[in-house]
Amino acid sequence: MTPHSPYGTDDFDSRQFRTAMGQFCTGVTVITTLDEEEKPVGFACQSFAALSLDPPLVLFCPQKTSRTWPVIEARGQFCVNVLSNRQQDVSATFGAPGADKFKSITWDPSPAGLPVLRHSLTWVECSVDSVTDGGDHWIVIGRAQILGEVLQDKPLLFYRGGYLSTEHPRVTPAQAELDNFLTWTGGDTWL
Ligand SMILES: Cc1cc2nc3c(=O)[nH]c(=O)nc-3n(C[C@H](O)[C@H](O)[C@H](O)COP(=O)(O)O)c2cc1C
Repeated sequence: MTPHSPYGTDDFDSRQFRTAMGQFCTGVTVITTLDEEEKPVGFACQSFAALSLDPPLVLFCPQKTSRTWPVIEARGQFCVNVLSNRQQDVSATFGAPGADKFKSITWDPSPAGLPVLRHSLTWVECSVDSVTDGGDHWIVIGRAQILGEVLQDKPLLFYRGGYLSTEHPRVTPAQAELDNFLTWTGGDTWL
C-alpha cells in the first residue's frame, strides 16, 4: 500500500502515529495542584477536553510516568489553566521536568488554594471524579467546581509539535448559544 492510498495503512510505527495525531490542533493547559506540604505542582497538558455540560465534567490524560498526576490523585483536586499566547514560556516550563517549575511563575490561589497562573485565558477548579486506564496514559474525569474569569486574549495553540496562535481573539458567545454542547457555539451549524 502506498502512503497516498485512500484506504490508509495498518503498517505504522509510533513516530508515524505521533505525526498523524499532530495534525489535530489543540489548545494548551497547565494543570496544577498542591502537594501534601502545600507546595504548588503542575504540568503542561494538551489532552484536555470539555466533556459534559450537565453535570459539568472535563477530562485530561496524564502519562503514567507523570510526577504531577499522583499528587493530583492524592489531593483529589486540580485547577485547569487555559493558556493564552502570552504564555508560551509557561507551557515550556511546565512541559519539561523541573524541580521547581513555579520559581519564575506568578500565580494566585483559587478558592481551594490551587495555583491560578497569571494571564491564563480562564481557569477551572475541579475535583477528581473518576480515573480510567488509557494505555500509557490515564483518562481522568473531573467535575468543575469553580469557574474563573475569562480574559479576552488570544489562545495558545499546539499543532504539529509547535506553537501557534489565532489572528484575533474570538468574542465569547452568548450563554444561550452554548445550550447543546459545551463548545458548540451556534445551533446546529457548529460555527
Ligand atoms: C504543549 C504540551 C502539551 C503536553 N500535553 C501533555 C498531555 O496531554 N499529557 C501528558 O501527560 N503530558 C503532556 N505534555 C508533557 C508533560 O507536560 C511533560 O512530560 C512534563 O514534564 C510532565 O511533568 P510532570 O512529570 O511533573 O507531571 C505536554 C507538553 C507540552 C509542551
